[in-house]
Amino acid sequence: MHELTMRAPDDFHVHLRQGPAMAAYASRSAACFARFLVMPNVVPPPVSAVGVADYRRAVESALATSAHRAATLMSFKIVPGMGRDAVLACAGAGAVAGKYYPAGAITNSADGVPGPEAVHEGLAAMEDAGLVLSIHGEDPLAPVLEREEGFLPVVDSIVARYPRLRVVLEHLSTAAAVDAVRNWPVRVAATITAHHLSFTIDDLAGERLDPGYFCKPLLKTARDRNALVAAAISGDGRFFFGSDSAPHPPAAKATGAAGVYAAPVAISLAATVFEGAGALDRLERFVSESGARFYGLPLNEGGLRLTREPWTVPAELDGVVPLAAGTTQVWRASRV
Ligand code: DOR
Ligand code: ZN
Repeated sequence: MHELTMRAPDDFHVHLRQGPAMAAYASRSAACFARFLVMPNVVPPPVSAVGVADYRRAVESALATSAHRAATLMSFKIVPGMGRDAVLACAGAGAVAGKYYPAGAITNSADGVPGPEAVHEGLAAMEDAGLVLSIHGEDPLAPVLEREEGFLPVVDSIVARYPRLRVVLEHLSTAAAVDAVRNWPVRVAATITAHHLSFTIDDLAGERLDPGYFCKPLLKTARDRNALVAAAISGDGRFFFGSDSAPHPPAAKATGAAGVYAAPVAISLAATVFEGAGALDRLERFVSESGARFYGLPLNEGGLRLTREPWTVPAELDGVVPLAAGTTQVWRASRV
């Protein structure tokens, strides 16, 4: 097949950052995605109605110069002691999800959650308000390769304690997490990134250390990747796409920042994975349908054309080294 057109995709997990660089990151995302859920790990974090509205305004003005239109979905950051009123105010400001970062797990998460008890009132309010709880599921105190699996019991306890709460476990990286999601009720879903579908820890550290593949959760084994691919192509609506595109400028990468600028190449990578698994016809469900259905949103109206037209991922884009820099991609994506 040389060309296919499908419904324009959603990105249910993207970091657009803040400040002048946002415009380039947002435009790059809008070139592929018609809608994206923006993560809240910025400083100061959106934890109030004003904070959510301010960050939305910043994202929308970053998108103003983009050649492509995209709709933004906002999230707020769940911080210890956050009360019912603050949660309801964030919902009132249009946030669709609250993000749970275990304290210290990742970029700008020192003010995150030490344990679910510290945010009980907020989680109960989210359940009542019908908000989605988005979880970075890693235990920062566990050994780095075991952090995701080590956090599954915490997710389990949240799922049990809030029986109506809708939950998204973000950026799955292990077979154990795939199994856990399959075993939870259908109100629990998960995002999967293109990089966790495409790469393993050997791409990060098998030969030369390549920080271009350094992200949290870490890329894992081929067995884990195969389990992620099986989940993504299965058509099970609980597994859907989130890029976790998380650009860091070279100076930050040079000092060890975790995060990959995935947006420019994510759809090309995902198409290659689905094609390799003989499931190209199910890519649309994974990137354009399942997430919207889980979030209760209408499907996007525009389209995305994938053309078999090899291109080399540049060494630098928007001041950042993109994911898979220097590789040749067989699929080119463009919105139509
Ligand atoms: O590697 C990562 N970087 N993973 C995340 O979940 C967050 C991100 C960031 O914000 O830099
Ligand atoms: Zn993220």
